[in-house]
Amino acid sequence: SQKVKIFFPLQQKQVFIEKGATVATACASAGFPLDLVCGGKGKCGKCSVEIERNGLRETTLACQEKVYSELKVFLRENQIKKTIKVLTENTSSECVFNPSLKKVYIDKKSLDMPIGFGIWESIIQHLDFKVETPSLSLAQRLAFLQNNEDVHGMTLIFYNEQLIAIEKDNTVDKLYGFAIDIGTTTVAAYLYNLANGERIGVYSALNGQIAEGADIITRIVACINRPDGLNVLQNEIIETINSLLREAVTEQKIDKQHIYAMALCGNSAMQHLFLGLYPESLGKAPFVSVVKSDMTVKAEQLGLDMNTEGIVHFLPLIGGFVGADTTAVLLSLLELGKDCDEKRLIIDLGTNGEIVVGNRSKMLAASTAAGPALEGAGIKFGMRGTNGAIERVNLCNGKIELKIIMDEKPQGICGSGLIDVIAEMLKVGIINENGRLLKREEYLAKCLPLYRGLADYLTEVDGISVFILVPAEKTQHGKDIYISQKDIRAVQLAKGAIYTGCMLLLKEYGISGKELKEILIAGAFGNYIDVKKGQYIGLLPSFEGVPVRSIGNAAGAGVQRFLLSREIQNQTADLIKNISHIELALNPDFRDEYFKNVNFPKHKPEDC
Ligand code: FES
Repeated sequence: SQKVKIFFPLQQKQVFIEKGATVATACASAGFPLDLVCGGKGKCGKCSVEIERNGLRETTLACQEKVYSELKVFLRENQIKKTIKVLTENTSSECVFNPSLKKVYIDKKSLDMPIGFGIWESIIQHLDFKVETPSLSLAQRLAFLQNNEDVHGMTLIFYNEQLIAIEKDNTVDKLYGFAIDIGTTTVAAYLYNLANGERIGVYSALNGQIAEGADIITRIVACINRPDGLNVLQNEIIETINSLLREAVTEQKIDKQHIYAMALCGNSAMQHLFLGLYPESLGKAPFVSVVKSDMTVKAEQLGLDMNTEGIVHFLPLIGGFVGADTTAVLLSLLELGKDCDEKRLIIDLGTNGEIVVGNRSKMLAASTAAGPALEGAGIKFGMRGTNGAIERVNLCNGKIELKIIMDEKPQGICGSGLIDVIAEMLKVGIINENGRLLKREEYLAKCLPLYRGLADYLTEVDGISVFILVPAEKTQHGKDIYISQKDIRAVQLAKGAIYTGCMLLLKEYGISGKELKEILIAGAFGNYIDVKKGQYIGLLPSFEGVPVRSIGNAAGAGVQRFLLSREIQNQTADLIKNISHIELALNPDFRDEYFKNVNFPKHKPEDC
């Protein structure tokens, strides 16, 4: 493809970009992203820039102007937005720093009030953006502060075009916001200084709703069966978030009154329970949510421990059980100034496996009830990936080799360890393709000489076949840690659901796996799994030449970007518009495919 040179004389920088790309793209790739207020639709005029072509200067809309030949772009400093990096465990992405929340200080002395003007109208003269008329209570506060002789100035707090509060004196450098990812199990909170874009803290806690059940279905049922159920569950999540707010306020020594914004994501059930929306419709076919669009609420309506006038914004859901966490995953993937045509398969591994296939212009999304097995729940010795969890297993030397988190005495096995051990047992032939754990004698009759020693760990507990990973004397709790036939079945059901979901979604989209640019694995647990082993057991699809990459806690990254950037917010609605939600349970092929995929893939016998 051909490239053209773009020169930025004022910044003394040049870049080469594809012919036909827009000036806005050129700016972004030179590291000078513009504030595309309308999302680059040519409507707001905010992206107008001066360019020079063949010696002629003109003003044009950067989001509309396509480049076919060499060009100079004259960017004023105030047109360039500051970009910031959003980090999660193993990823980092940039976004334009341009939050919805703004503080402006007005010195009373600077207000000259010409005849025929109001105080408010004089203030507007000082702003470089459009604003709406203030509410009555804010107009009253304005009058009070303006006429109070001890007050020399005031700080106005805007959420987009709307005045939401007025503080006395100059507090412009004290403005905070939270991005929150409500997981079924864990809640993560990211605290930002919205005056400068700096992230000043990361906090996490267990979701208090766990007291009512580990998975979302149990919690939905609790709402339906108990008269106070919804109230209890809503209070539990609000209290979890409030405890994180209090922790942050204390640790950072900030005033909670200066927290004015909160952006949240979470699955569809979490959205209902956080907002106090009765979730019955979500719990039965055809699984519809009460409100799918994004919701903007005042903090006081939810009892959040921040400024009562603060704005709380829950990201939009995609449909059914494909929630705002998936929206956030997609937002984390938006690249500055890039429109990408390549198709990807994105799998968010969790209790509720969410799958998206496609590109920016067309996507299909679905969810599959994988169950909590992959997160270690419902597994006899399953546990979360914390200290004492077995995270890696290797049987290929004919011995059991384990890696334990923090090298502590083992206590149980986490999701990544579980996938490892199943793959290894499959490789050495301890389990067969149907997932049956062989009896000791049966195994000895078949196994390669190198692996004979492993037979010693095959036994039975309460009439169920098990494979002992760690004998009692070496564990934290003094009991054998083993994998039972039941555990293997639970993993088979989970991996069958995810794999089937992926394949049916690709089919529905009308592409073959080989046409994918890559497969992305999201979810905190996705960080740690050995992708090759995930493919070996048929949890993740594998297509020749298609790489698989883990993108870590992408939902957390997406919700942070949403908090920080109006560009990202503006693109959200467009993104959602291009996603169709598919209810896999209604697909006539689902059952058959699923039962087929519960088995493990056939592998040639080999030394591993
Ligand atoms: Fe170009 Fe709005 S007109 S971004």
